[in-house]
Amino acid sequence: MSALLDDLPRYRRMTADDLDFVMATENEIYPHPWTRGNFSDSLAAGYYCWIMEHGGEIIGYSVVMMAAGEAHLLNLSIAAGWQRRGLGRAMLEFLLKLARDCGVHKIYLEVRLSNVAGRGLYADAGFSEIATRRDYYPAAQGREDAVVMELMLT
Ligand SMILES: CC(C)(COP(=O)(O)OP(=O)(O)OC[C@H]1O[C@@H](n2cnc3c(N)ncnc32)[C@H](O)[C@@H]1OP(=O)(O)O)[C@@H](O)C(=O)NCCC(=O)NCCS
Repeated sequence: MSALLDDLPRYRRMTADDLDFVMATENEIYPHPWTRGNFSDSLAAGYYCWIMEHGGEIIGYSVVMMAAGEAHLLNLSIAAGWQRRGLGRAMLEFLLKLARDCGVHKIYLEVRLSNVAGRGLYADAGFSEIATRRDYYPAAQGREDAVVMELMLT
């Protein structure tokens, strides 16, 4: 039984000590990664910054802002070697439960128009695409639109 449990990913709060590893992963998986300052500001602001780990190794992380019954999912990332194993879905489910437990009734996020994996993950979880923010992100050639997605948590 304990061997089975040891195989499950675990979740814990992110700390400043995690940022070297988080930044190495961030730089590997995003063409336009967050800066270290984005993460340290999120920690300082008291955002919900979570680590997913397996066998002591960080395999994913996320940042969520929650206020006044609404949540904004700012970052959800699975390390390169761990993608497409259901871990993004598992971490999203963990965050949705956390948000519900915090009294959140609506969660939203922005995702790049070209991010097929992210849009598929969120659509599978029940998010709807509700708007487009023009030229929201930097891109290799100019700017790229963001799709705004929303999920009501009842
Ligand atoms: C997006 C991301 C978090 C998905 O995590 P993951 O662990 O690889 O995804 P999962 O294995 O849990 O897949 C869940 C669903 O997401 C979608 N999905 C995930 N990767 C996909 C891909 N490469 N292409 C298309 N759909 C994909 C599918 O709908 C998938 O369901 P399925 O396996 O039944 O087809 C991960 O790819 C990642 O960290 N990417 C880089 C960072 C990023 O883009 N984050 C999101 C920014 S908003």
